[in-house]
Amino acid sequence: MSSEKDKEIKDIPEESYLDKTLRPSRWEDYIGQKHIKDNVKILLRAALERGHTPEHLLFYGPPGLGKTTLAHLIAKETGRQMKITSGPAIEKVGDLASILTNLAPGDIIFIDEIHRLNKMVEEVLYPAMESGVLDIIIGKGPSARTIQLDLPPFTLIAATTRVAMVSSPLRSRFSGGVFRLEFYTNEEIAEIIRRSSKLLETELEEEALAEIAKRSRFTPRTANYFLKRARDYAQVNKKSLDKETVKRALDMLSIDEIGLNASDRKFLEVLIEKFNGGPVGLKTIAAALSEEEATVEEVIEPYLIQLGLIERTPKGRTANKKAYEHMGFDFIDKQD
Ligand code: ADE
Repeated sequence: MSSEKDKEIKDIPEESYLDKTLRPSRWEDYIGQKHIKDNVKILLRAALERGHTPEHLLFYGPPGLGKTTLAHLIAKETGRQMKITSGPAIEKVGDLASILTNLAPGDIIFIDEIHRLNKMVEEVLYPAMESGVLDIIIGKGPSARTIQLDLPPFTLIAATTRVAMVSSPLRSRFSGGVFRLEFYTNEEIAEIIRRSSKLLETELEEEALAEIAKRSRFTPRTANYFLKRARDYAQVNKKSLDKETVKRALDMLSIDEIGLNASDRKFLEVLIEKFNGGPVGLKTIAAALSEEEATVEEVIEPYLIQLGLIERTPKGRTANKKAYEHMGFDFIDKQD
């Protein structure tokens, strides 16, 4: 008979359960992003020694690099409770007021996608972050008045993929720092896969690991996703998790040898074939792909830029020689 605990675990969708399991909860297990780790550790240690609540932090960078993971880790390492919400979820000033007034002293509030916070909510957040007070307007018109509530000390940790869309007054209130997460190196991604395969109790040959790493877009979330898919494929086909199995599993997902998926390749194909390699503006190429501009800018382009396949120039997006070669097109240098 299964225990209550087993039942609890089975009721959680496997994906989210595994993601939680793979998420590092100690600094020693968080691989890479050394610059951020070094700085944040000092900030937390100094606050602890002075008996203060750590100052507010903003993390930004492409999706899947571990912004939320960092917030969870900070909460775990400092033994604080964390309330999680997101920019679009805080629709009204009242929503924010309710979150802030329900915090216990020292709590962390994590706001994902902070760039999607509306202006009115943002205005209320400023004094809350800066002076720990909540200004509430009661009534309307000439009889309206403001009451000020003292809030318990708290740390706001926010994350965004679009730091340019965070207004500068808001950005400047992250007094603990604004940190950019970088793409991981191949070695760091390999280490993350090694750690995850141990946690999943999966035997993974070294060559197979390298194959997953190579296609992982320098991104831990992608690496862990591919590892899980390769493991599924091996299990169902009764194969061992070797290089060939990984290749088959990732080919089935339309992920090529350098980690491009179908959308990335479509982007390159349209840029090269339809727009003659550019320059072409974001709006135009997004329309040609029937994709949202935000998806193109935040999800597709960062990795293509990182690989040196495309460039963002003042005149628009351009494809490099490497992109032509990868997609099997002849490259004609327009400067000749
Ligand atoms: N999962 C997500 N980000 C990670 C990291 N930096 N190290 C280990 N596992 C991770």
